[in-house]
Amino acid sequence: MPFDTQEINKQRQNLADYEEIWLFGYGSLIYKVDFDFLESTTAHIHDYERRFWQGSHDHRGTPANPGRVLTLIQVPGARCFGRAFKVEHNVFEHLDHREKNGYLREEIDITLADGRVVRGLVYIATSDNAAYLGEATIQEISEHIWRSEGPSGKNRDYVFELAKALKQYAEHDEHVFAIESRLLKMI
Ligand code: BEZ
Repeated sequence: MPFDTQEINKQRQNLADYEEIWLFGYGSLIYKVDFDFLESTTAHIHDYERRFWQGSHDHRGTPANPGRVLTLIQVPGARCFGRAFKVEHNVFEHLDHREKNGYLREEIDITLADGRVVRGLVYIATSDNAAYLGEATIQEISEHIWRSEGPSGKNRDYVFELAKALKQYAEHDEHVFAIESRLLKMI
């Protein structure tokens, strides 16, 4: 799979087939909402957990020194908190560009805060994409994030902003908070 997944994503779903489209955000989409939406609520998906296993060439790193950003991995029985947004089709032109570095849109069941379960889309970077970095220890990930920076800013600020947002929603994420805590000790 190429670094830039925009063309692949255009072919993946026929957005016109959806009566309404929901998007699930689990990372920067929780705190950086730079698109229009019709409705938004907290939500969760089942059987996935966040991991800083994806390389970032375009936001929190560079092609020569990629940063580490989030993707989801499958963990049966897990629950991943996030935000769901009901959006118009055209929002995906912007999002496909914003999340073009290895992420593919996947269909998923999203449980909204009011208990409704809707079929929606989530961006996931799987291990077969060219920017994938994969598993590493919490210490290795934290050191990598500490030294990385890209056009969207310092890699560590991505972690701090996400951790802050999760705390505001009273949500715990062991992986994110373990890395946040190591980074705070490096300051
Ligand atoms: C998200 O916040 O859902 C997201 C995270 C990384 C890449 C794309 C989307």
